[in-house]
Amino acid sequence: MASVQAWFPTLIYSERLQAEGLRAFNAELRDECYRIRDHDAAGRKWSQPNYPFGYTSYGSLDRLHGFSSTFVTLQERLDGHVKRYARALQWNLRGGRLQMTDCWINIMPRGCAHSFHLHPQAVVSGTYYVQTPKGCSGLKFEDPRLAQLMAAPPRKPGAAAQQPHIVYPAKAGQVILFESWLRHEVPASRVDEDRISISFNYHWY
Ligand code: NI
Repeated sequence: MASVQAWFPTLIYSERLQAEGLRAFNAELRDECYRIRDHDAAGRKWSQPNYPFGYTSYGSLDRLHGFSSTFVTLQERLDGHVKRYARALQWNLRGGRLQMTDCWINIMPRGCAHSFHLHPQAVVSGTYYVQTPKGCSGLKFEDPRLAQLMAAPPRKPGAAAQQPHIVYPAKAGQVILFESWLRHEVPASRVDEDRISISFNYHWY
């Protein structure tokens, strides 16, 4: 009987940011996210058409690791996770390094969604969860081959790794990393309390 092997895997990384002190660090980050939102009139204006019901600093303050010490700390901790992810991907960086380029806040109340997209130009993208109320939306990834699937039959329900989508639940303190070409979305939030996350990109230099 011929053997069947799986090739071309899509690797998604998911890990706690750190073993201890998450609660205090997230409280600090949450306060800072709200402080930044309150001061960022341009970002609130940008969010109205681009991020309905919610607030993102993507259009106004997208280099938060450049001016806030709390975000610098977050970046330093994320760097270690990105290194581990790059090792899992077996990347040969040829003496170069992976460096955070953008880092921004997302505050999603009820009704706020972020439809399918990818992050052009970056190599690694990810999210860190600061506040995740019960019932908030997860992060939904799409099989990168979906556009090529024409007459393929659907997969059996139990075959999780072979479904066209996979949802990673949002959990405060958790880091999720993926290759920037992988399409993803955050479905509309159905809870009142804010879901707060920090998204970021890494480039290869
Ligand atoms: Ni994204």
